[in-house]
Amino acid sequence: MDTWFITANDTGVGKTVLTVLLARLLDQQGIPFRAVKPFCSGGRADARALHRAQRRQVPLDTINPWHFRPALAPAVAASLRGQVITQAQVESFLHASHPETGFLLIEGAGGLLTPLGPDFTARELIRDARATPLVVCSNRLGVINQARLVWEALPPPNRRRARLILMDAPKPDSSTKTNLTALSSHIDPSRIHRLPWLFQGVWGPMDCKLMESLSQLLR
Ligand SMILES: Nc1ncnc2c1ncn2[C@@H]1O[C@H](COP(=O)(O)OP(=O)(O)OP(=O)(O)O)[C@@H](O)[C@H]1O
Ligand SMILES: [Mg+2]
Repeated sequence: MDTWFITANDTGVGKTVLTVLLARLLDQQGIPFRAVKPFCSGGRADARALHRAQRRQVPLDTINPWHFRPALAPAVAASLRGQVITQAQVESFLHASHPETGFLLIEGAGGLLTPLGPDFTARELIRDARATPLVVCSNRLGVINQARLVWEALPPPNRRRARLILMDAPKPDSSTKTNLTALSSHIDPSRIHRLPWLFQGVWGPMDCKLMESLSQLLR
């Protein structure tokens, strides 16, 4: 269970935040890891964040081999420039990225079913890499439906070990407090985690409570 795939119900919900936090935790614990973002669209900020989280010891292109200027689904952006990226190419990159010991963290692009190539999405990569899915969703009104849709779409063998991460917003809404309990009727509660909004940002101090929440996630 050493390959973790950080996916989501949507873009912009906290995948990079979670990946950076997990990388920082593993780094502090002296556990070997590699964090990659195979596809970036609309800039390489995510890859740069993962680069920083790896103390800039891994070349940026080794973290992120495929990048596109327009903020579009990777398969769409690639097709606009006449490029086809195959699932085999991505899998070979992921295989080569795996450290000999320790963890591989893979940040997806967009959500679970965002087209990455002509005939594959994160779902196929998760299945073939036998990865543990970490599904990030914003802890806001609507998340019960959105989280359940993603959960249902996971390949069943991977779903059995998946985690759901409810990412709090800076300001709670009417549903923030009840979402986790409501989702527990549908998803094993031991696999639902809630992370706070980090007012000091992802590079701010990690207190004991946050470290414990992150450690629990990887157990
Ligand atoms: N828990 C949090 N604490 C503080 N800021 C957060 C948190 N979750 C998300 N954000 C902020 O929300 C924005 C989107 O988060 P993030 O970049 O991690 O999303 P993403 O799912 O990786 O997006 P993309 O689909 O572009 O990769 C960022 O500005 C990020 O710093
Ligand atoms: Mg991101």
